[in-house]
Amino acid sequence: MADIKAQEIRLEDYRPTPFSISKTYLEFDLQSDHTLVKSELSFVRNTKAEFSDLIELDGQELELLELSVNDQPLTEAQDYKVTDNKLIFTVTPFLKTQDAFTLKCTTRIYPETNTALEGLYISGGMYCTQCEAEGFRRITYYLDRPDNLSVFTTQINADASKYPTALSNGNLESRTVENGRVIARWYDPFPKPSYLFALVAGDLLVQEDSFTTASGRQVALQIFVEKGNEHKCDHALASLKRSMKWDEDVYGREYDLDLFMIVAVDHFNMGAMENKGLNIFNSSCVLATPETATDESFARIEGIVGHEYFHNWSGNRVTCRDWFQLSLKEGFTVFRDAEFSADMGSRAVKRLEDVSFLRQHQFPEDAGPMAHPIRPSSYMEISNFYTVTIYEKGAEVVRMLHTILGAELFRKGSDLYFQTFDGQAATTDDFVWAMEQVSGKDFGQFKRWYTQAGTPELTLNVDYDASSKQLTLNASQITAPSADGSEKEPFVIPVKLALLDASGQEQPLNVAAGNDFDASQQVWLFSQHTDSLVFEGVEKDTLVSLLRDFSAPVTLKDNFTMQQRINLIGNDTNGFNRWEQVQMVFRSLVKSHVDHGELDQAAKALVAQLRDSLLSMLNDADLDKAVKAEMLQLPAESEILILYPKTDILAIADARDAIKNELYLPLIEKFESLYGELDQAERYQFEAQQVGRRKLKNQILSILCELDAKYVAELAEPQYQKADNMSDQQAALRAICNFAEVSVSDDYLGQFLTQWQSDNQVLEQWFRLQSTSDRTDVLELVKGLLTHPLFEYQNPNKLRAVVGGFCMANTRGFHNQDGSGYRFLAEQVAKVDKMNPQIAARLVSPLVKWRSYDDTRGLQMKSHLEVLSKGELSKDLFEIVSKSLA
Ligand code: TRP
Ligand code: ZN
Repeated sequence: MADIKAQEIRLEDYRPTPFSISKTYLEFDLQSDHTLVKSELSFVRNTKAEFSDLIELDGQELELLELSVNDQPLTEAQDYKVTDNKLIFTVTPFLKTQDAFTLKCTTRIYPETNTALEGLYISGGMYCTQCEAEGFRRITYYLDRPDNLSVFTTQINADASKYPTALSNGNLESRTVENGRVIARWYDPFPKPSYLFALVAGDLLVQEDSFTTASGRQVALQIFVEKGNEHKCDHALASLKRSMKWDEDVYGREYDLDLFMIVAVDHFNMGAMENKGLNIFNSSCVLATPETATDESFARIEGIVGHEYFHNWSGNRVTCRDWFQLSLKEGFTVFRDAEFSADMGSRAVKRLEDVSFLRQHQFPEDAGPMAHPIRPSSYMEISNFYTVTIYEKGAEVVRMLHTILGAELFRKGSDLYFQTFDGQAATTDDFVWAMEQVSGKDFGQFKRWYTQAGTPELTLNVDYDASSKQLTLNASQITAPSADGSEKEPFVIPVKLALLDASGQEQPLNVAAGNDFDASQQVWLFSQHTDSLVFEGVEKDTLVSLLRDFSAPVTLKDNFTMQQRINLIGNDTNGFNRWEQVQMVFRSLVKSHVDHGELDQAAKALVAQLRDSLLSMLNDADLDKAVKAEMLQLPAESEILILYPKTDILAIADARDAIKNELYLPLIEKFESLYGELDQAERYQFEAQQVGRRKLKNQILSILCELDAKYVAELAEPQYQKADNMSDQQAALRAICNFAEVSVSDDYLGQFLTQWQSDNQVLEQWFRLQSTSDRTDVLELVKGLLTHPLFEYQNPNKLRAVVGGFCMANTRGFHNQDGSGYRFLAEQVAKVDKMNPQIAARLVSPLVKWRSYDDTRGLQMKSHLEVLSKGELSKDLFEIVSKSLA
């Protein structure tokens, strides 16, 4: 296998370019079987760079037709040479004397055969672009790197009957139709890197609204969709207006152009893209009606619309110097969208959802062969670094700064950051610098969070001495070396905590002076290998609420007794921590079942205690129903596996089932009556009360059907028949699919398909429902779906629904003892890699963590990776496969 090291890009090699492109003029001539791209680029010498006459432009899969400098045509070999991915100028004597010059270039590209969905491609009947991270180089030769900021003018020339809608970034300067061709000219006054460029051409319908900014400017808001989807835009438009208002209120950030456009496309590698003034969205992340989208997807859409909008400042106005700084924009923006969602809905629910996502996905990544710090120091293919680590752990790191500084200082820091680096390409160091400036704090050690991978294991042991009334917190931290062998220095861990009396009243925190304890924030900064913190005047039986709101991305070990946990579940005032203690009890029960093959007497006694706690919570009229629903949910298998590596994954699944049975069977009547109370007819609204009620109802429906299949006919089928919204319809169908006889399940799946076959967003749900179902014939079912007339290999959403659903969200199906799941995935990955390398590299990830599984499974998985590695792989897939075998 080729050497990875030799092909790696390294942070330490970063150099500014000798010239930059200050102005970019582009002309697109969209022809039926190819596109011509003419560029006119104004190069100026970069005074910040060392003098050099070597100019290289990026370019990939381009046909170069014409090239000139200052209108002097250049000749290949004599003036320049072309490689697979570069255009290298050799006209050095000429360039030595120039401080500015104009380069003109014409390239031919083929969007109609572009299946990688990078650069310019066709989705359905429309042209669209995806340029982040390095897609622009598939359009024309360019300095395709984020530190080159340029003012873009774009002209689109297309068949007016097929592509009347022709969009690009910024403001529309002119639009004419001549000889059946539309000519649209766009101008974006804000300098931007090429990854934020966008172009769309199609026959689209638009939904419009407007927003008046705090300073009184009118902004036109437009969502463009294909015909037939125009009724699905209301929620996204409302979410967009809420995002714009929120960013003004919370960060003082206003929108800066007169126009903000969103386009929905069906074929898209990721969720959405923040192109300046012209966001492009995966249809499934923007389109929704109550009949076609679940509450979950309504919430997701609100979050993603917010995320992309917030990028206008955190990403676009202030962008990244290089791709090692990706978390500068992504971590910060995920933090911003999480806070936005928390403010719009239930804060505790948003937090616990995010924490369980982090533990299910990021912790395993951080413990596996692809582990990397949020600011990596090398990569081979940057697309592989759009990871849960960069995004979600990156957001946790920003959140820690927020926790340490408090909201007010953090806002001062973000103001300083935006003001200082506006119109520039910045680094994560710049961000931390701003936070240091406003607080006078030294974040030198804190910055290890940016440069060291791994999840710290934090141990907090509580020691109480009744005679002196002293409560001591003994802390230690250890972080295992990553796959690359790197040893870890201690992190700065903000531990947010409270002392509570038996009824949950918060107690004063008397800490001896000289400790790094901030009483106003209730945060202890623990930064050594080991340390301790002493509280004075503490009464006996005081409860300690630790790591409140998950104040650091660590695995916590403590010495609480089960009784203390039960007390915290009943009395903690921190909603997140009540849920967390339920999770702790679940985990210890799973572990106990795995170890003994059954629930022993002690475990059963604990289950009974937990049941009582859950019951009183269910009876608590003041508690948010969405929180109640979450309390009933056991931790995912992947979350347990990371705590107890090499455990048989199906033994974990068995343990979960056994605990659910033991815990919930005695509550069956309670659940039945609760279901009746919650099942109210009402006009659907995406609103916290309703969402909470549906979530709890559908959680209970699932539990009941699992406990006793008679509830499928008694509750799930009637719910399906009368459902007037997708949350209820889908939950009912899921229960039927999982717990009814195959013939019944097939019947309902057929009905559902008949009802929804012309709706792509619902069709994806239909695919996913089956691939994630508990049916024992699920792999056969999945293989059948791949040949279904409505399945499309070229559509990443459908691939993710069928292959991703089965391999990432169907533990029993994918990890079947006979290894058939692993073989299936390897085959699919090899096939997809030929069309769409980015998606192939993502799909393969369940195999990558082979070392975490028991030896039998691990070796089966590994053998498939070895077979893959012998084939001809894309750079994307090659990097992942070879790192996972290293
Ligand atoms: N910047 C986008 C976001 O997080 C990410 C993204 C969208 C992306 N499409 C992509 C990254 C394609 C790589 C490739 O909001
Ligand atoms: Zn983003």
